Amino acid sequence: MSLHQLITRPKLPGMRIVIINGPNLNLIGTRSPEIYGSTSLEELNGACRSWAADVRAVVDTYQSNHEGDLIDRLHAARDADGVVINPGAFTHYSYAIRDAIEAIRIPTVEVHISNVRNRESWRRISVVSDVCVATIFGRGVTGYRDAIRHLAARSAWPVETIAYGPDPDNLGDLRIPEGSGPHPVAVLLHGGFWRNTAARDLLDTAAVDLTERGWATWNVEFARVGGGGGWRATTADVAAAVGSLAEFAKGHQLDLDRVIAVVHGSGGQLALQAAAGAKEHPISAVVALAPIGDLEAAHRAGIGSDAVNAFTRRTPEQSPERYAAASPIRNLPIGVPLLVVHGDEDDQVPAAISRSFAGRAADEGDTVVYHELEGVGHDELIDPATRAWAKVVEEIDRLR
Ligand code: DQA
Repeated sequence: MSLHQLITRPKLPGMRIVIINGPNLNLIGTRSPEIYGSTSLEELNGACRSWAADVRAVVDTYQSNHEGDLIDRLHAARDADGVVINPGAFTHYSYAIRDAIEAIRIPTVEVHISNVRNRESWRRISVVSDVCVATIFGRGVTGYRDAIRHLAARSAWPVETIAYGPDPDNLGDLRIPEGSGPHPVAVLLHGGFWRNTAARDLLDTAAVDLTERGWATWNVEFARVGGGGGWRATTADVAAAVGSLAEFAKGHQLDLDRVIAVVHGSGGQLALQAAAGAKEHPISAVVALAPIGDLEAAHRAGIGSDAVNAFTRRTPEQSPERYAAASPIRNLPIGVPLLVVHGDEDDQVPAAISRSFAGRAADEGDTVVYHELEGVGHDELIDPATRAWAKVVEEIDRLR
């Protein structure tokens, strides 16, 4: 199904979202809490109401253990602006639910509390994903918050999803600002420790904000750990995603002489490597927010439950070459102006990594501006509601 056939009613405030939970989800809170957590369905529904209020949306919640009832509720959602559905085990085989989602033509986000990609092999199959605008899994009940935010971001600014390669993860969301071009471009690379439980929806609100400020935004997906990614495959996808801008620049009036990368966490490693490693690329500056600029230091710190090991599949002792090839601090100078911003209260990626990365990059000849923001954690840097983001965009606007 082409996403263009969806009925998108841009009407913030007051977006109406239906939250639908399928079989056995009435038991969360007590059902396998080691997998699904301790939040009850009632608590989850309450949380959804308040997450929706944050984006000026309202939700209707529904749960059933019966396939036909779920289908009827989907049909009734035809007058809503968006649907969030966790079809439970029906995900894996109910073509009837899949067809209902397709038939109503309302943007629908598929959510799973658990990481369905690293459990039994039959849970990896979803027959509904291809008719959903996004699939969020493995983030606990927070996935419902992210689904609501995603629907709000889709409705806040039109988005065109473009494939830049053959794999299902070779996609990006292009948003074009108002007015006539050529438009400066911001390529967005999300964080999440390279894992496939994180996805580009994490940068939706940042993308909308930058688009409102006049940047064309290209918020890209790439193969990640747990889904065919790793230091080589992920790096190759990022290079392809950046390279693909040339193909649609003309049609969308993009200014390829003004392309910046705005990147977060592990996306920082990817962008800095892409800029340092390629002979030719259009990136003219990197805005690195809490970036992982030093893989060896990040490995030693054990960040993201040994995320570096999962990404490189080797320790620095086992494969010094791999770290030499993939670690930004080992590939200085990067060769384009760098703006590095890190919060001093970041409990996911220590600010010390950026402090030494920025210092070394400057020593090696890069133009670097480094801001360490007091009292700021990891995710505030990509949240347009924070003063940290206000600082970030103030600097980004200087790069225009
Ligand atoms: C689930 C995953 C399904 O495989 C399972 O059958 C569920 C819940 C989840 O939220 O993780 O009931 O959708």
